[in-house]
Amino acid sequence: MHSLDATVTLNNGVKMPLFGLGVYLANQGKETEQAVQWALETGYRHIDTAQIYRNERSVGKGIQASGVPRRDIFITTKVWRDVRPQEVISSLETSLDLLQINRLDLLLFHWPKRETRKEVWKEMTKAYDMGLTRAIGVSNFTRPHLEELLQQTDVIPAVNQMEHNVFMNNKDLVEYCKENNIQYEAYSPLAKAQRLDHPRLNELASKYNKSVAQLMIRWVLEHDIVVIPKSTNKQRIQQNADVFDFTLEDADRLEMNSWNENLVTGWNPYTYP
Ligand code: A2P
Repeated sequence: MHSLDATVTLNNGVKMPLFGLGVYLANQGKETEQAVQWALETGYRHIDTAQIYRNERSVGKGIQASGVPRRDIFITTKVWRDVRPQEVISSLETSLDLLQINRLDLLLFHWPKRETRKEVWKEMTKAYDMGLTRAIGVSNFTRPHLEELLQQTDVIPAVNQMEHNVFMNNKDLVEYCKENNIQYEAYSPLAKAQRLDHPRLNELASKYNKSVAQLMIRWVLEHDIVVIPKSTNKQRIQQNADVFDFTLEDADRLEMNSWNENLVTGWNPYTYP
């Protein structure tokens, strides 16, 4: 894991970059377009959006503007939870149009919804069989959600994307995903910038001559977890990618492992039936 283009291999053989750009809460228009372009110019090769972010069109424009070939970029989007099963494929086709691509790299089921999740997953497997996406997975699925899904399907999700950072480390779920060959992926690795003033984190950041954000990102990567910090600021986009020239000492990594406080900065998937 020594460079920005390091990859993990998903359970269907597809390679996914360990590091990418998240664009949750990045506004449709120039803001998202520029962030994506800056990220690709910096060397990012993985962009993570979602239908509900309403910025897929701008992600597509940013990719075009960057001049980076499509085949070099891993693109994820997510089916929103209110999409009805019979609309999954057409919603994916709309996403592909907005993103200006023919095929997605990863389609995630954004949130478990009890009433429809079995059928939505079935439609996602059809989209996969049709070649509309190179992999399918889930997001915000806790262990009970995954256990239920694995009983209902032969297609094991390639990925489970969760809110994950030093203050929310989902230890049991990470283990469960590993045991079941589901790649675990971390969104909000910076806890949405809500704990950047943590005194011990600042002490450690000074020790490594890195920023608190860089330390938080590095901690995720060192667990072989895919990470997608969000930023729309050029300097911070560059800073967040500059995490491949140092390694945490075991004692520091272990100390950071102990900081879990089940902090949830977004919606809480553990409260979904
Ligand atoms: P901005 O987009 O203005 O850079 P997360 O990835 O955990 O959801 O966190 C996203 C939040 O963290 C955003 O508010 C983002 O703001 C901020 N952020 C991203 N990178 C950094 C950084 N290197 N230092 C401080 N804040 C950051």
